[in-house]
Amino acid sequence: MAIRPIITLGDPRLRLVGQPVVKFDRELGQLIDDMVETMDDAPGVGLAAQQIGLDVALCVIRVDEGLFELANPEIVHLSGEEGAWEGCLSVPGYRAWRWRAEHAVVTGQDRHGRRVTVSGHGYLARAIQHEFDHLHGELYIDGLPEGEEIITEEELERRLDEETEAD
Ligand code: NI
Repeated sequence: MAIRPIITLGDPRLRLVGQPVVKFDRELGQLIDDMVETMDDAPGVGLAAQQIGLDVALCVIRVDEGLFELANPEIVHLSGEEGAWEGCLSVPGYRAWRWRAEHAVVTGQDRHGRRVTVSGHGYLARAIQHEFDHLHGELYIDGLPEGEEIITEEELERRLDEETEAD
């Protein structure tokens, strides 16, 4: 296992569209293990292959519900709406308010090629949508509604402190 360097905004490899995973072999298992180790080391909630410079439709997610590895994911259901300050390991130090579906269901394959379905609410639903976008070369800061700003983590902390004081 190895920690891979995470590439950041401006690196064109983040814009690569993931090609389908077709070989579910030992090499894929090692890549997934590396991605999990890289994500946990960061630490982060999810990591897409694009973030280590690969054009592969493969991502990993770790939340309270567990660890999920998804090859060739397809979102099959989205419903509800929830807003939150979102961030990304490839856009370090920044956050933006993003509306996402509150419930997401995704199907894909695990390292052995077995079909898996993940149904998530809230934070997990957000992670599914965020990683799915990465696999299509998209970042969470793309297509923010007009007026929605990207702020530094320090600025966010300052605002949240202010809100707490106002309560
Ligand atoms: Ni991200």
